[in-house]
Amino acid sequence: MMRIDIISAVPELMSSFLSHSIVKRAINNALVEIHFHDLRAFGIGKFNKIDDYPYGGESGMILSCEPLAKCISSLRDQFDYDEIIYLTPDAQVLKQAEVNRLSLKTNLMMICGHYKGIDQRIRDEFVTLEISIGDYVLSGGEIAACVLTDSIIRLIPGALGDEMSALSDSFQDSLLSYPVYTRPKVWRDREVPEVLLSGDHKKIDAWRHEKALEKTKQIRPDLLG
Ligand code: ADE
Repeated sequence: MMRIDIISAVPELMSSFLSHSIVKRAINNALVEIHFHDLRAFGIGKFNKIDDYPYGGESGMILSCEPLAKCISSLRDQFDYDEIIYLTPDAQVLKQAEVNRLSLKTNLMMICGHYKGIDQRIRDEFVTLEISIGDYVLSGGEIAACVLTDSIIRLIPGALGDEMSALSDSFQDSLLSYPVYTRPKVWRDREVPEVLLSGDHKKIDAWRHEKALEKTKQIRPDLLG
């Protein structure tokens, strides 16, 4: 069973994410355990302070070393982490190949930054992997942690209804997905491509590959290298 620990100053942001769809089923089927840890519980002083002003000036607050260190250490004392991941826009952008690799791990820790990020010394001391989910800035790492967690969980065998279906996802073969159709056969004069009704699986596979290639060339030629 996989275990994912997520550290955040606003864990409530993520709670509904667990109670739906594939993630919920994976949890119910004991394929994965997800635990949220409220950084505020490790805050300092009467007001449980977890952040402070940046040295050198600039706007925004930085999550301080000590609350994060206490939270991370208390977890690290109990579990042997394969990766301690910090979600941040100033990192390598997440790709499916990395998701595939992480889906084979047992214990993952994710740290969500908030405000202007976390003290660099925490990254230097504890973090083993830094991930951005795209070239844009979110107001915190929580949504990014949900994105990463979801992308990992759906790859755990048994999480998807049909185990094969993850293999035909976009990106699994460096191609975008081919177009898909369901009933009815004709909708507003738009017909389902004839080949999909043919029952000829060789022909269907060839058509799908051709369409995937066509779409990738058009929208994401960078994927074709
Ligand atoms: N935190 C804020 N923006 C982010 C991004 N793009 N990826 C991961 N974590 C983030």
